[in-house]
Amino acid sequence: MTQLAQPDLWAKAAQQQCATALAHPNIAFIKYWGNTNHQLRLPANPSLSMNMAGLHTVTRVEFDPALPADTLEINGVPATGPGLERVSAVLNLIRAEAGVAAPARVVSRSNFPVGSGIASSAAAFAALAVAGAAAAGLPPVEARLSRLARRGSGSASRSVPSGFCEWQPGDDDGSVAFSIAPPEHWALADLVAVVSREHKAVGSSGGHPLADTSSLQTARVAGAAERLRRCKEALLARDISAMGPVIEEDAVIMHGVMMSSRPPLFYWLPATMALIQATARWRAEGLEVYFTIDAGPNVHLICPAEQAADVEAKARKIAGVRDVLKSAPGGPAHLLAPGDEFLHP
Ligand code: DP6
Repeated sequence: MTQLAQPDLWAKAAQQQCATALAHPNIAFIKYWGNTNHQLRLPANPSLSMNMAGLHTVTRVEFDPALPADTLEINGVPATGPGLERVSAVLNLIRAEAGVAAPARVVSRSNFPVGSGIASSAAAFAALAVAGAAAAGLPPVEARLSRLARRGSGSASRSVPSGFCEWQPGDDDGSVAFSIAPPEHWALADLVAVVSREHKAVGSSGGHPLADTSSLQTARVAGAAERLRRCKEALLARDISAMGPVIEEDAVIMHGVMMSSRPPLFYWLPATMALIQATARWRAEGLEVYFTIDAGPNVHLICPAEQAADVEAKARKIAGVRDVLKSAPGGPAHLLAPGDEFLHP
């Protein structure tokens, strides 16, 4: 089993019952949509993603027996209600495994817009799992950390290992993500064309239970393993012209399920469709760019790093594009040294 190679920081965190971790969001090339067990977040199908360097969430967890209950602060604002309950549920798993009773103070900050199709929950729960496990004195075993992250948010399982990650269905212990290639494997760029910064009306957690109400979900799930096989083969061969059509097809099939569920989920805006059509045009002009879209209207443009500047300039000219966020393949979730500047500006 993979061990996270930061023994000194893990030992110190256990001693001080306090740890700070950084995790990147990830973009799925083969999507996770629908669960076989919602409470355990066991996915209906396998998925494959790339961690997004440049974007991150940093989370500090401090167990403190003097606290009456867990507290949570996100981007400087105290959080209560369902957000805090979801964090406490993961902390309860950590406490039970580590034999810790104390409530925790959790402080989290992200450097990217929350709730707009960039999987903020993936980075958030991967960072929480790693910081919480370290502060509770659990051992740094990647598969166990990926499982803890998955229990907070399914896609967070894929933000724990490094680079390009695969996550297979299975039971609570076995359904964890693992790296299939390090970030250095392939200099890809993900340019996120942001067309809306608004909070989604229905987030992923509300959407997964609707997947089975679409008559298309059975066909989507049945074809996922084969799409993943083709995507993985192309990724390992660094062949974008083979990988691109698979990721576009997989994203469109997922949105077909979303649009045909009861009630339907329409995440696309007119600018989303404009970007889909522009991507095909840019390819005809010689760029190797392909799109994928998560549970939101923003469009991730995937291309070789050397074409990123061209693609970004073209995307900025599309009406309705407010911003373009750039990222490259990212590393694993990991601990930061105590007193990190990001949390104490
Ligand atoms: C469309 O992992 O955000 O981004 O487990 O309820 O937190 P929860 O769902 P989440 O779902 C991600 C859905 C997706 C596709 C993907 O990332 O694979």
